[in-house]
Amino acid sequence: MTEQKLKELLADMTLEEKVNQMSQVVGAFFNKDMDITAMGPMADKGFTPENVALSGSVLGTMGAETLKKIQKDFVEQHPHHIPMLFMLDVINGFKTIFPIPLGQGATFEPELSEKCAAVAAKEAAVSGLHVTFAPMTDLVRDARWGRVMESTGEDPYLNSLFCAGMVRGFQGDDLKEPYKIASCVKHFAGYGAPTAGRDYNTVELSEHTFRDFYLPSYKAGIDAGAAMVMTSFNTVNGVPATGNKKLMRGILRNEMGFNGVLISDWAAIEEIIYHGYCADREEAAVRSAEAGVDIDMMTGIYCENLCRLVREGKLSEDLIDESCMRILELKNKLGLFENAYKDADETKEKEVILCKEHRDLAREAARKSFVLLKNEEKILPLGKEKKIAWVGPYVHSRNLMGSWSFIGDAKDVTNLEEAVKAQADTTNMSFHAGSPMLGSDIRLEGFGEAMEQSHTPEEEEAMLLEAVNAAKEADVVVLAIGEDRLQSGEATSNANIRIPEIQQRLLERVSKVNENVVVVLFNGRPLDLRDVVSKAKAVLEVWMPGTEGANAIADVVFGAYAPSGKLTMSFPYSVGQVPVHYNEYSTGRPHVPGKDKDRFRSKYLDIPNAPLFPFGYGLGYTSFEISDVTLDKTELGLENEIKASVTVKNTGDTAGTETVQLYIHDVAASVVRPVKELKDFRKVTLQPGEEQKVEFTINEKELRFLTENERVESENGVFEVFIGSDSTTENKAEFVLKK
Ligand code: IFM
Repeated sequence: MTEQKLKELLADMTLEEKVNQMSQVVGAFFNKDMDITAMGPMADKGFTPENVALSGSVLGTMGAETLKKIQKDFVEQHPHHIPMLFMLDVINGFKTIFPIPLGQGATFEPELSEKCAAVAAKEAAVSGLHVTFAPMTDLVRDARWGRVMESTGEDPYLNSLFCAGMVRGFQGDDLKEPYKIASCVKHFAGYGAPTAGRDYNTVELSEHTFRDFYLPSYKAGIDAGAAMVMTSFNTVNGVPATGNKKLMRGILRNEMGFNGVLISDWAAIEEIIYHGYCADREEAAVRSAEAGVDIDMMTGIYCENLCRLVREGKLSEDLIDESCMRILELKNKLGLFENAYKDADETKEKEVILCKEHRDLAREAARKSFVLLKNEEKILPLGKEKKIAWVGPYVHSRNLMGSWSFIGDAKDVTNLEEAVKAQADTTNMSFHAGSPMLGSDIRLEGFGEAMEQSHTPEEEEAMLLEAVNAAKEADVVVLAIGEDRLQSGEATSNANIRIPEIQQRLLERVSKVNENVVVVLFNGRPLDLRDVVSKAKAVLEVWMPGTEGANAIADVVFGAYAPSGKLTMSFPYSVGQVPVHYNEYSTGRPHVPGKDKDRFRSKYLDIPNAPLFPFGYGLGYTSFEISDVTLDKTELGLENEIKASVTVKNTGDTAGTETVQLYIHDVAASVVRPVKELKDFRKVTLQPGEEQKVEFTINEKELRFLTENERVESENGVFEVFIGSDSTTENKAEFVLKK
């Protein structure tokens, strides 16, 4: 439809029609099998049958046949035959499930996540969907917050690359193209920093930190063309984001240039009342509409109030027109006025979903996401002839997909026992659960499904004994343990970040009878792993690895594929350290372990300052040497650039991949700068003995930040450039910026 025709359509619509475009309803209104409370509270308030008949979009129903039917009936009865948008959270896959985003971050390959997003878009599109609420690009530092699994980590530069890559993957160049869906960057803004790691809690960020760390990746998503943005639940500078005009009109639209559709998070418009920001639903409607929130997800507040407010002269109809037009434009970009069903196709659903190509990509992504945290005596990879006891609740579990993968079906997931049997002669091997996933210490209120797993103490002891006996007889025990998939994700904050008590006990008992323990760790967040690390010779972090996760684990454990992932979120030494992250600001009393014995330093008395495993860390099956840093010049100006290089050598006896990382430190600036900031990285694969020069370019633009002048600019002075294999590297050189 031409722009002119869209304008004519808008001009012809009644106020009710326009306002209802701005309301989103749950799929349950059209498909009674849907659980309307699946993703939040308050889904059924405020909507009349008339609202539903005019609504602009639906959340949470899928399937080509179902959606085509809903769309057909809907369009026919709509006064202007305007199709609706079908939206859903397609996070790390639709039916073919990829590793959780935190695992994808560890690949240090945004291009791979772009491919995964394109596959997810294809599967979702043939099932009739038009929009995904992804990527979540909230920067995360606090492992107590369960939603860290949905982020790619603690670094703004890396998050930006991943966010932009995923947006491109979902959307392609043109939303009208087959198999493309609109992407919604979320949660604007700062949702990743809830105080004390408690979900939905208040957020306190200085302007400095907010702009340095939290805003860049949303901006990257917007620059990559994201069609939508979602508001966050939290406050920003004391004002709930969803009613925050300064944030939404000032920063999002004016500064960042976003002109797409802004949707509230689930019930967030109503929640600004509970924040104590608005007295009632009417005021919440006004504040949110004035902030420029185009779609009200789930509360019915817009359709209940906006028409009346306009008629009473309390709200300008221009605001309604502006929002409605943005929604119509999105429908037009998706080509829905020409073909309301877009890619929905029952035949394609059968061909495309979980096809071999998609499964192969899931396996590749999983392998690359694994991070080898420890490998004493090079115990990994394991020879297939070894007598191996495979022990732990993840030996048989198919729940490898992560909490947001609710469309993924466990029956499509290979479990570890099956994956091992497909790759090795298992005559010498045995497989044992060893313990239930969770014991009674975990209170998953509202998570009935998980609690049903509870066993009697006698059953637990029998499982444990069977595993211990097998461990006694084995050369090696592979312990497949970790968090339940429901322990991370939305509303899963934890004060203790350790593996469940009952599995801790299994580790304890098994490691007493066998010193060759390899832990394969499943989880959605950094954990306090001190116990695990002290009792195991090797620890392979596999996150929630997805549909092909178990096959990928077998690939890596038996050495067909060498691990190469690097952490993108620091693993704390203890929960008392969080939020702990590599890119912290300098303090006036820094502590250098081993070098200063001064009492009055920024340090803990009982634990080190450093995390157990830092950002950028990860081992492989070989070793690498990285030479000193060489700079081709030591003075940088506006017109030139510096080439910084190192030579990387594979000093081990197998091929391997190293991720060479470049960090910058601005030594003195008008506002305090982080001690290190990732600016570039390169993945290199080398054969044993092979070496390669890795060259980076540094230019003035990369040195810019928000200065005391409140401008994003660089400042003259000395910079340190570090190049190494993780964020603790001290391999550095210096240059001067002279503009
Ligand atoms: O997209 C999600 C959001 O991340 C959390 N609240 C519910 C939304 C819709 O499912």
